[in-house]
Amino acid sequence: MYIRIYATHQDVKKKDLKNKKVVVIDTLRATSTIVTALAHGCRQIFPVSTTNEAKILSSSWSKEEVVLGGEYRGYRFAHFNYGNSPLEYEEEAIKGKNLFLVTTNGTVALQKTSEASEVLVASLLNGRAIADYISHIDPAQVILLCSGTQGHFCLEDTITAGKIIYHLSEKEGEIEGDEMAIAALQLYQLNKDQLLELMKLTDHGQRLIEQGYEQDLNFCLREDIYPIIPQLSLSRIRLLNRGENIGMEKKL
Ligand code: MLT
Repeated sequence: MYIRIYATHQDVKKKDLKNKKVVVIDTLRATSTIVTALAHGCRQIFPVSTTNEAKILSSSWSKEEVVLGGEYRGYRFAHFNYGNSPLEYEEEAIKGKNLFLVTTNGTVALQKTSEASEVLVASLLNGRAIADYISHIDPAQVILLCSGTQGHFCLEDTITAGKIIYHLSEKEGEIEGDEMAIAALQLYQLNKDQLLELMKLTDHGQRLIEQGYEQDLNFCLREDIYPIIPQLSLSRIRLLNRGENIGMEKKL
């Protein structure tokens, strides 16, 4: 299996992902929010790039079935139910609902994968489960698409990519990959016992603290609390159905 990492979604065009297995990562905070909402019973999530798109798409559901969530540069939208803090997506807020999520980088990255053959959503909260699933399906190549921050490389997404490679190598032995993949694995191995200290050095970590979201930072670093596999298909993210997950667990 060969792993290729893109450091930002701006580095990639839709056609680069055509027919590929892609894992989208936005550790702070979009993919952590998606994983948390699904773990708490959210029915499905539509990743969209504008508030208008969210409003138009959601108008086909009744109001009770819809939650509008998201942020621009960390700030929530005035007319939306929630922001992009995973801590807002507790069971009582999200169970059985359709979430329309708009974020600065993460949902834009997700929308770039429309030509991929399979798209998974990863964060530190479910990184091991994603690695286990990839090992189970055993593709020739996997692309780890880091969302990045405003077009720049960011440590937090690279750390999650490194964690996935780390767990894959536990199962598969040495993994082949590009130099970003080698760097991501090293970065995770060197820092896995001090993730908070590292994240406090990042631009995004510092911004979250300045905006009063330090608890989000702590939460998004909790590894493998939700062993779930969110999959984007037909423009919406759902959990892989029980049968597929159970099949995988049996093999593991
Ligand atoms: C993003 O998509 O850029 C993020 O998730 C931003 C954030 O909520 O901090």
